[in-house]
Amino acid sequence: MNTGTRATADQLHTGLIDLLVARGTVTSPQVEAALRAVPRHSFVPDSPLETAYAPDDAVVTKRDADGVALSSASAPGVVAAMLEQLDVRPGMRILEIGAGTGYNAALLATLTGPTGHVVTVDIDADVVAGARDALAATGFTHVETLTADGAQGHAPGAPYDRIIVTAGAWDLPPAWWQQLAPAGRLVVPLRITGGTSRAIAFDRENDHLTSRSMITCGFLAMRGIDARDEPVLTLATGVNLLLNEGGTAAAEPMSDALTQPSTRTRSGVTVRSGQPFQDLDLWLATTSPGFCRIIAAPDAVTSDLVTPAFRWGGAALTNSTDSFAYLTIRPAEPENANTSDGRPTFELGVRAHGPDSDALTQVLLDQIRRWDDEHRDSIPRIDAHLKPAQPVAGTIIDKPHSVLAVTW
Ligand SMILES: C[S@@+](CC[C@H](N)C(=O)[O-])C[C@H]1O[C@@H](n2cnc3c(N)ncnc32)[C@H](O)[C@@H]1O
Repeated sequence: MNTGTRATADQLHTGLIDLLVARGTVTSPQVEAALRAVPRHSFVPDSPLETAYAPDDAVVTKRDADGVALSSASAPGVVAAMLEQLDVRPGMRILEIGAGTGYNAALLATLTGPTGHVVTVDIDADVVAGARDALAATGFTHVETLTADGAQGHAPGAPYDRIIVTAGAWDLPPAWWQQLAPAGRLVVPLRITGGTSRAIAFDRENDHLTSRSMITCGFLAMRGIDARDEPVLTLATGVNLLLNEGGTAAAEPMSDALTQPSTRTRSGVTVRSGQPFQDLDLWLATTSPGFCRIIAAPDAVTSDLVTPAFRWGGAALTNSTDSFAYLTIRPAEPENANTSDGRPTFELGVRAHGPDSDALTQVLLDQIRRWDDEHRDSIPRIDAHLKPAQPVAGTIIDKPHSVLAVTW
């Protein structure tokens, strides 16, 4: 790298970390120091420097024959937020699942210092070779970089004070419970239900794990022995319903719903610009039978075929046969718009398609209003129990290895 390019890299690097601090994503001096110490561009050498240091973009480093992303350096904002969740201290033993480029392993090794130990595993041998090379080139030769299916952890290095998973997990396999130290913490991007994911920091509490913090994020799905399929129902070009694991529905009657007039109903519930309401998704996912996710291509939205809450789609419900409804969001009517601080106000609503539209609309409206009345300011808690143990309270989500209980 010539002097000019190095100066640009240094500038972009500093700018990125300054931004993450200013945004409040980085809150601890330790994480800030680690992020400043590790040059991210050295782990994505084939990407332009601007791409390497973009705060909110993952850098895809490997795709399959169909172009589906298999490996990436996660977006810096997500990496930083998960390191804050993990709370690494000097001397700790850490297992990372999903070595990818090796960037996060380098950060972990910086945080745990010379007295600690980092093991990072990836399911793909070529990815491991790349991570090992990048770690060696940046001076992190002491990171143990191995090819393995992370669902089995790495027993020889256990117990771990911290386990961090950097691929989207469907469940909490037994190996993680067995290999986590008694006072350990597990941070994992977990598919909770109905396509709703959170990066959750779990601490051990007696016989179970309990959530300490959650952040919204999207991750490449874990492959290997614990991979799962989410059934996708294609209703029209660019309109898909992502059903819950194990969910079934025939595409044809559901697609017919799109050819009939739809209904649009306002809820009277408003949200302000800049006010997070992502937990509404989790509320709907864990309380509404038939919860699913609508995924829409830009053309389907601009033609008004479907108008989900977000650019890409959003929370939806089906009756599993011929009808579906989804959350919408649009500028509030003047009587509902709080204009006191000049921030725009939006109103949540429901659009429904098919013969069962009225019933589905009512279910969704009831749950939106309940969230508004009772849970808008509450932080959900997730307790995870390794089977056969059973939780006693909360909304129960039954997974192959574990049972999650969500309480508000
Ligand atoms: C988002 S990338 C990880 C990013 C990485 N931590 C970094 O700093 O660059 C996810 C990685 O998980 C890996 N992966 C997927 N399934 C896995 C599994 N079952 N066990 C281990 N690694 C897995 C993928 O090969 C991919 O490299």
